Amino acid sequence: MEETSKIEKLEAFEEIVKCLSGAVAGRVLYPLGHPTVQQAIEKTYHSMSELLKKRKDFSLGLIENELVFEDISISGETNTSLKGFIEHLKERAVERISFFSGLKIEELKQFIETLSLSPKELTGKGGLSKDLSREKITSITCGSFYLPEVQKKERLPALSSKDLKELYTESLVPIKELISCIESGKSVDLKGVSKVIQGLVDNISFDKTALFNLALLKAHDDYTFTHALDVSLLNMAQGKMLGFKENILHDLGMAGILHDVGKEFVPGEILRKPSKLTEEEMEAMKKHPVDGAKLLRKTKYAGDLACIVAFEHHLCYDLSGYPTLSRKRKLNLASMITTISDHYDALTTTRPYKKSMVQEKALRLMLGFSGKIFEPILLSHFIRAIGLYKAGDSVKLDTGEIGIVHQENQDLLRPQVKIVLNKDGEKVSEVVELREKDSRGDYLRSILSKVDPEE
Ligand SMILES: [Fe+2]
Ligand SMILES: [Fe+2]
Repeated sequence: MEETSKIEKLEAFEEIVKCLSGAVAGRVLYPLGHPTVQQAIEKTYHSMSELLKKRKDFSLGLIENELVFEDISISGETNTSLKGFIEHLKERAVERISFFSGLKIEELKQFIETLSLSPKELTGKGGLSKDLSREKITSITCGSFYLPEVQKKERLPALSSKDLKELYTESLVPIKELISCIESGKSVDLKGVSKVIQGLVDNISFDKTALFNLALLKAHDDYTFTHALDVSLLNMAQGKMLGFKENILHDLGMAGILHDVGKEFVPGEILRKPSKLTEEEMEAMKKHPVDGAKLLRKTKYAGDLACIVAFEHHLCYDLSGYPTLSRKRKLNLASMITTISDHYDALTTTRPYKKSMVQEKALRLMLGFSGKIFEPILLSHFIRAIGLYKAGDSVKLDTGEIGIVHQENQDLLRPQVKIVLNKDGEKVSEVVELREKDSRGDYLRSILSKVDPEE
């Protein structure tokens, strides 16, 4: 649905949810043949068919108290009828419903009929999913929010931190090879890099958070390599949020890996200088976008997008960056995406001259440059995705305490947290509000990072 604006998508989503929840609520109260129910089902069918004219399928997901459709979510907190529908789905353990083109009204009727059963009746029938296959309904499936368990094992590197670390380390190999080729003046072969990106797209791009989690692993050594990979992962994660197809995700990933390739022509002592660069050194550093674009232009498999991104990634949204353009023009969307990934990664990584900034500080700093360095809508999407601390996430606080996110707040970076270990590692149980400030106006506690509870 690339051609459809986000507002149109939101409207379609809201309409479908309104109709579907109305139809289910109606069926709970009246028999299937009642005009109220019939009308509601017809309306639902009409709104779904409209959306299925533009795409092969769509899925509604349930996360906590929100219904999610791709990068859009609507909360049940402020909408009573939606809240009721979400509760209805939760009671029946439905986390995801997918609808496919070719959907027939009879299938929808049967689906609503089954979904309207009481949880006990539904369990007696073996659950919603089983009933759909028994009724030979092929255009509607339901289940967990991600892929079914079997596919998950085949395709998804389980989200355990060990597997992710292995995948991350493996992905670094061809990047290291690429950089050593450039350093030694050998011809550059991007086939290996392209394969790694394709592997990441195939395996984890369907999981919105996996790409982010992978990027946030951050090995703090080998900045040159990990930076390239992190920017690539963050690019793909942003692309995924925007609903881009897999081939575009691949190209965004390639552009991320290659964005700083021109730095190979900057003297090492400038790249690694721990103190501030002199004006002359800065000029040498500023050549890397042009040098990178020149190299990529003559490199097989680099693709146009990587070349454009290498050239544009320091230009900034308001074109105040470098290199200087002879005339004003709009930047490529991929360049604006990469600028966000690039800054976020640089701000949150330890380098010789700078201590790693905590996630939140980096995001707040970036927000201050919305509309200047960063494209505002892309940035707000990014912050929402990165800063989303979900209930149940384990987090480390800057006070040394370990806690579990208890409840989200309007300010997504500052949820309520239940402290489980104090700074001395002793077990405690206290719910704290991260929006709380001291007398000087400073926050009492901030989240430093998410932690893997298995570690
Ligand atoms: Fe750069
Ligand atoms: Fe960079």
